Amino acid sequence: MKKAAFFFLIILIVASCSNSTDLTYTSDIAPIIHQNCTPCHRSGGAAPFSLTTFQQVNRKKNTILDVTQSGLMPPWPADRNYSHFTGERYLSAIDKQKIKDWIQGGAPEGDTSLLPDLPEYNSYSYVGTPDTTLWFDSILISGNSRDKFFIATLPIELGEQKYVRAMEFLPNENNLVHHMNGRLLNYEEDKKANITAGQRILNLEVAEVEYVRQFNNLKLSNDDGTRPEQINSAVNYLPGVQAQLYPEGIGGFTMNKKSILIADDIHFGPIPQDKWDQSRVNIFFSKTPPKRPINEVMLGTNGASKIIPPLVIPPGKITQHTSYLRIPEDISILTINPHMHLLGKRFKAYALTPTQDTIRLISIPKWDFRWQYFYTFPKMLKIPAGSVVYVEAEFDNTAENQNNPYNPPQEIRERYEFGGAGMRTTDEMLQFIITWLPYQVGDEDVSLEVE
Ligand code: HEC
Repeated sequence: MKKAAFFFLIILIVASCSNSTDLTYTSDIAPIIHQNCTPCHRSGGAAPFSLTTFQQVNRKKNTILDVTQSGLMPPWPADRNYSHFTGERYLSAIDKQKIKDWIQGGAPEGDTSLLPDLPEYNSYSYVGTPDTTLWFDSILISGNSRDKFFIATLPIELGEQKYVRAMEFLPNENNLVHHMNGRLLNYEEDKKANITAGQRILNLEVAEVEYVRQFNNLKLSNDDGTRPEQINSAVNYLPGVQAQLYPEGIGGFTMNKKSILIADDIHFGPIPQDKWDQSRVNIFFSKTPPKRPINEVMLGTNGASKIIPPLVIPPGKITQHTSYLRIPEDISILTINPHMHLLGKRFKAYALTPTQDTIRLISIPKWDFRWQYFYTFPKMLKIPAGSVVYVEAEFDNTAENQNNPYNPPQEIRERYEFGGAGMRTTDEMLQFIITWLPYQVGDEDVSLEVE
């Protein structure tokens, strides 16, 4: 081999080993982080730590490499090859590769004068100026690094009955809330004397007997023991998910003079030290009554269709279950919400029309109980009368499931309580919630994207 060629070879080898890269943080990576990560990873954002500076990103680069390449971040468990929704979060193949090349190339910062400004974020509302802001009681979250689940209630007294266009839930600065499902109990005036009499917080980790006692202490029933009107999904929260604002005239509900908003449940991620959390709710009123109020139907646990076979999952087993429901009239679907707990492994839902066409709803190939999104279709989705909606789910009760709450695994089953289902994550659930309107001609052209 000639000397020159030999040295050239050495240089080539050295160059490829030193992992150098032309990509820099300020010109190539910051724009990707700003678009895809800082909506949550910033102070006042939904994620537990910030990624707003080069130093913060550099410090976390190894985990960032893992979570971006595996698709864990940004979090979007639904399969984008199956169906599409508003607000999808994902990295393009090019951006993914750039992050990888940059980190493996030594993660250089680059020329700091080229750093783009961070987008502006509003911490007090993501959708506008609320008419009213109300606060839940503070909750002490113990720092034993485990997930925490609570029921929290918020009594609301208005001078008069009002129309609500939207509610928005916001966790406090600590960003500890992971998800929250809020339903509104609307009391008729003469049915309940005092809506503030009940206990406000219920820790769902308590033993069953205690749970029953405490649930009764929430005092949610009417004074005569009957149940008040209930508006499901009045407000929901998940990290990075904006309040649900549908186009004018769609959705919204009436709020009586006396109501209780019940967060059922509210989930906090694991933290190493005790912390207090206080969350708030923004309410946006509307002058006009809801023109097309939203309906909700639920398949599965505690819902309108049974689970086949019943949701009993023996230890060490992976089981498959289905649930299906015939849709009697033409409907327009707005939003769907698959729900399972820690043993969930896979979820799929679709509709079969009377002419045997398949309408894809959602596929979640790798269930992650942390991301229980409400998925809104980009446009209303028509399901013709006589269609059958099918849900197919798989549960993993083996020791290999890292989220298995028991080691060794134990039999886990679904549970019914108080007409609400087993809320503890160690119980299982299989639910599929569909929010819909009676179909009107042209619905399929109505965009549900919020600007
Ligand atoms: C929708 C909000 C949201 C977006 C967008 C988001 N994250 Fe996260 N991220 C979170 C939350 C919340 C957690 C904490 C996860 C948990 O509760 O286990 C997290 C956790 C992480 C972790 C720690 C994971 C671990 O296993 O320790 C990393 C690293 C991360 N995110 C990086 C990113 C990067 C990089 C992006 C952009 C490409 C991004 N995230 C986008 C909300 C988000």
